[in-house]
Amino acid sequence: MHGNVGEWVWDYYGDYGTEAVSDPTGAGTGTLRVYRGGGWNDFAKNMRSAYRATLAEDKGSFNIGIRLVRGIAGSGVVASADMQSEESGGGKVLIAYFSWGGNTRGIAQEIQAQTGADLFEIELVNPYSDDYNTVLDEAQRDQNEQARPELAAHVENMDDYDTIILGYPNWWASIPMPIASFLEEYDFLGKTIIPFCSHGGGRFGQSLTAIAKLAPDASMGEALSVHYSGGSSLSEDITEWLRTNEILE
Ligand SMILES: Cc1cc2nc3c(=O)[nH]c(=O)nc-3n(C[C@H](O)[C@H](O)[C@H](O)COP(=O)(O)O)c2cc1C
Repeated sequence: MHGNVGEWVWDYYGDYGTEAVSDPTGAGTGTLRVYRGGGWNDFAKNMRSAYRATLAEDKGSFNIGIRLVRGIAGSGVVASADMQSEESGGGKVLIAYFSWGGNTRGIAQEIQAQTGADLFEIELVNPYSDDYNTVLDEAQRDQNEQARPELAAHVENMDDYDTIILGYPNWWASIPMPIASFLEEYDFLGKTIIPFCSHGGGRFGQSLTAIAKLAPDASMGEALSVHYSGGSSLSEDITEWLRTNEILE
């Protein structure tokens, strides 16, 4: 990332916390995005990936660009639908989801209604608080600590499933940590994970990268992001997305 042009990254710009964290993802919301690495007209001291600068997300500049990356099915990076269609066609499907406020649960139930697939709720031995402000703190604490909250139930017959449709809310621009607990519990070799994410405006945030890192042996299907509980087009959006992933014909 060093030199040539500064490169847009996904993070919103905001203050860093005072605690040490790994892979910080920046502020959860905002209008300013981050670019890194320095460009051709920057000082030499700025030619490093840790160098962070910001601009409104709808602006550009002659020294800012993008880096192209390509996913390869099976390597744990997000693959396009046609790259992983062979893996996702035909096999038995599990819908696994975590939901705090019910939005993700509602979306999971709609997917279940359209597919008839098995439904599994990811629940905790020690659930998060019901209070919104408290859960915000708890979720941020868990993310900073990269916690692995203990799960209350387990999928005993995971071997039976070829495809896992995995749902979660966007929490602090990434996955809730119970999703990390879930992904670390099973072997996803030869399976396809198709993520869906309910969010309040931040779409997937860093969540797809986080999933790919936690399940490096899985193929990743085309993901769906839904604003809160989805609008009146939710049912149609889900149908189209399931077709893209060849879950529905
Ligand atoms: C702890 C917490 C953190 C959140 N962080 C984000 C965020 O970073 N970006 C975003 O767009 N929405 C964020 N939201 C909003 C949720 O993603 C959104 O309300 C979602 O629909 C909740 O799904 P659920 O009802 O299944 O829990 C956050 C919500 C909570 C409770």
